[in-house]
Order: sequence, then C-alpha cells, then structure tokens
Amino acid sequence: MLSSSRLAVIASFLSSLVLVAAQNCTLQFDGRVNADLVAADFDVPNDVFSEQFVIGQGLTFSLALRLLPAGAGSLFDVDGGFEPVEVLISDDSIFQDQVAFRRAELLPASNDGADASTQGVKTLHFSVRKDDVRPLNLSHEYQLVFLETADFSANQFVLKTGTILGQNTADPDTLQLFGNTNDGQLLFSTKFLPGTFHNFALTLDFVQLTTQVFFSTGEDALVSVTDVLQNDVSGQGQFHFGTLKKPVNGVGDITKDGDQPANINEGVIFGGIFQEDSADGCISLAP
Ligand SMILES: *[C@@H]1O[C@H](CO)[C@@H](O)[C@H](O)[C@H]1NC(C)=O
Ligand SMILES: *[C@@H]1O[C@H](CO)[C@@H](O)[C@H](O)[C@H]1NC(C)=O
Repeated sequence: MLSSSRLAVIASFLSSLVLVAAQNCTLQFDGRVNADLVAADFDVPNDVFSEQFVIGQGLTFSLALRLLPAGAGSLFDVDGGFEPVEVLISDDSIFQDQVAFRRAELLPASNDGADASTQGVKTLHFSVRKDDVRPLNLSHEYQLVFLETADFSANQFVLKTGTILGQNTADPDTLQLFGNTNDGQLLFSTKFLPGTFHNFALTLDFVQLTTQVFFSTGEDALVSVTDVLQNDVSGQGQFHFGTLKKPVNGVGDITKDGDQPANINEGVIFGGIFQEDSADGCISLAP
C-alpha cells in the first residue's frame, strides 16, 4: 500500500511528464484556420469563429479578415498546415453604438458565454504578430485578446498594446497582459517585435481562480514566464481575438466619446488559436 504522500509525489511526477512532452491534449475549441477555408467562409455559420460578432455595423468578416499563406504559420500552425488570419479595422469598424471605438474581433464558434471553455482548468493558446504594412497607431490603446465576463462587467484578462489609457506607458510598442480589469494587475509584458509571432498560452483555473502565463517567440517552445498567479477568472464569458482601438481624449463613456483619426488601415495577425483541457495538467508547450 502506497502512502498518500508518496502517491502525491508520483502524481506530480507524472503530471510533470505530461507537461514536458510535446503531446496532444483534449481540445475544448480549435480556432486554427484550415488552408482550404477562404474569407467568405467566415460570413456564414462555420465551426471556427462566430459569423456574427464582433464586426462593424453593415460589415462582414470577409471584409475584415485577411488569410495569410499557411507557410507563414505560427508555432502551432505549421505542422497542421493551418494559416494565420489578420483582423483588420477601418473607419467603418463601428460596432453597434460604440462610435468612438474601431473594432473587429474573432470569437470561437462554440464559445457562447456559458460553455465549458470557462469552466474547470483550461489553457488558451494564441500567437500574435504585427503587420508592418498596416501598423497600429501607438498613440492609442488597443485590446488584442481578452476574456469578457458573460455579464460584460469586466475582462478577466486582457492583452493590450499602445498607450494604455490612465497609465504612464513607458514604451507603447509593448505587449502588456493584464489580469482582471477590476484590479488591473500586470501579469506579463514583452517588447512587441516586428516580423515575429509572439506565442502565448494562459492556463486559466476557473476553480482556484488563478492564471499562469507561458510565452515564446517564433518557433521556440513555450516556457512559463509567471508563477500560478491569483487572478479572478470567474464570470464565464467569451474570448476575443482581434483589434479593438480605443479613442484618445475621451471623456466619460469612451465607447462613445473621444477622437479617432480618419483613414485607418490597421491590422493584427493571429495564429494558433485553440484551447486545451488542462484539468489533468496537460499543456502543449510545443507542437
Ligand atoms: C489531437 O488528436 C486528435 C485526434 O487524432 C485531433 O483531432 C486533434 O486535432 C489533435 N490536436 C492537436 C492539438 O494536434
Ligand atoms: C495617431 O493618433 C494620433 C491620436 O489620435 C493622431 O494625432 C495621429 O495623427 C495619428 N497618426 C497617424 C499616422 O494616423
């Protein structure tokens, strides 16, 4: 008979094996884009992304997406021949009555706000890259990836770049990952390099209310860059991947007030979006 402490040691050893090996965890959703898809496929119901949200009034996703060649794929795209996808914004990217925002974001098709992607322990993967031809205006704040609670009252985490509103941003050309917007804790930041995929994995524990960040660039395997941090990830909701540009000089409700210069032609490239079940410790650090 093994003592429970010895069993715990063995269990932790086994789970560390699970963590190191390149392997195939159970997927919760797969937002990687098969090379046989074309932009118009995202205008109609499909099993990758919502065809409804988040997009400017009167626009369709085929106008807001640019599919890149599969060869340009990120860490978790290359082996499967998946292609990165760029999310574009223009002056017309006005969602509902948010006239001071310019935004377009991809939401995983199965992520309806109450599904299992925000339950248990899950690891969210995504890679993000600049488009040097359609640069962001770093005088503004951008939200690139976030989880928004089902009641729309908070973001449980948010990846930003540019000049963060209400803060003194030392270098706006930085990717800054914040925890729950109710306390604004900075979890991790890194220089936003040109021509490079920045690969993130966030282990979100919806039971213990923690977040751990893994990161690498290019084709390097992910490494952990934070401890398991307390972060309130409760409230379920939806994951957003895209370009949400906030105004400058906004007063009060900045979704409706503030300045947005005209003739915007901006985009951010995403690859390797998927989520795996980490309840048993499974995390893919490399393909
Ligand atoms: C894991 O394997 C299953 C079944 O072979 C496959 O459908 C899935 O795409 C694989 N996941 C990854 C991340 O490669
Ligand atoms: C960037 O944004 C600022 C603030 O809105 C604006 O003054 C400036 O003209 C913009 N730059 C470009 C190149 O659009």
